[in-house]
Amino acid sequence: MAKVIDGKAFAEGLRGRIARAVETLKTRHGFTPGLAVVLVGEDPASKVYVANKARQTVEAGMNSWEHKLAAETSEADVLALVEKLNSDPAVHGILVQLPLPRQIDSMKVLAAISPAKDVDGFHVVNVGKLSTGQDSLVPCTPVGSVMLAKAVLGPLDGLEAVVIGRSNIVGKPVAQLLLAENCTVTIAHSKTRDLPGVVRRADLVIAAVGRPEMVKGDWLKPGATVIDVGINRIERGGKGKLVGDCDYASCEKVAGAITPVPGGVGPMTIACLLYNTLKAACAARGIDQPAM
Ligand code: GUN
Repeated sequence: MAKVIDGKAFAEGLRGRIARAVETLKTRHGFTPGLAVVLVGEDPASKVYVANKARQTVEAGMNSWEHKLAAETSEADVLALVEKLNSDPAVHGILVQLPLPRQIDSMKVLAAISPAKDVDGFHVVNVGKLSTGQDSLVPCTPVGSVMLAKAVLGPLDGLEAVVIGRSNIVGKPVAQLLLAENCTVTIAHSKTRDLPGVVRRADLVIAAVGRPEMVKGDWLKPGATVIDVGINRIERGGKGKLVGDCDYASCEKVAGAITPVPGGVGPMTIACLLYNTLKAACAARGIDQPAM
């Protein structure tokens, strides 16, 4: 049976180290990192994420601001708020929760966020820096996924990594990070021919397609490490249940290590967001990050 990768415990440890670094910034440099989150509309999953982000930001000792706007807010009003946050020196990180309502062009909003405050790492400047190997703010879920893979495998050099999914939020940036770790990277997606055959090559599988329980145990090379980024709500036995993109029951019999859903990659995302806020705050102040 596969080793279960405890993302919840790993994230708790990371948040503890971040909280101590924040304390150091307060006592030695007299300032507090701050994160502003913008939520437009009433998407229930987004509301839960934003509430969790705000709580954990405060628990880490940082300032947290939540801007909740009505679903019918205009694009111009969202852009005006982003401009205001860009020029507020107390705000070191800005996160606009996605998806945005239809009348708002997400690409335009993401482009308006100052790259130095883009703690999601979605601005094209940060995307470009990541893909050219320059220091940047890197998307949170990809960083958390690679941290868990390295916690299990140690250095990833030379490993065959298969990423399933090509989104801007996970698939593409995680592939860049794995390339930077010297993996041989394949990005598979909905048009990939013989997906099970491609996945079977992998020492490391990162599943980020958003399809409940799609990856089956008999697709895996025995002993492979499986990082399941999916969070899908399904009905089973008359009850709502969260499942990943991997069929856990069959995958845990073949994999060497696997992240559970929930309790795997999910908790890492907010911990990495707090890390990016700390990093952005130190850069804004021109000081070195405290040792973690
Ligand atoms: N919606 C789902 N995941 C994310 C994320 O990582 N960042 C933002 N801004 N919105 C999201």
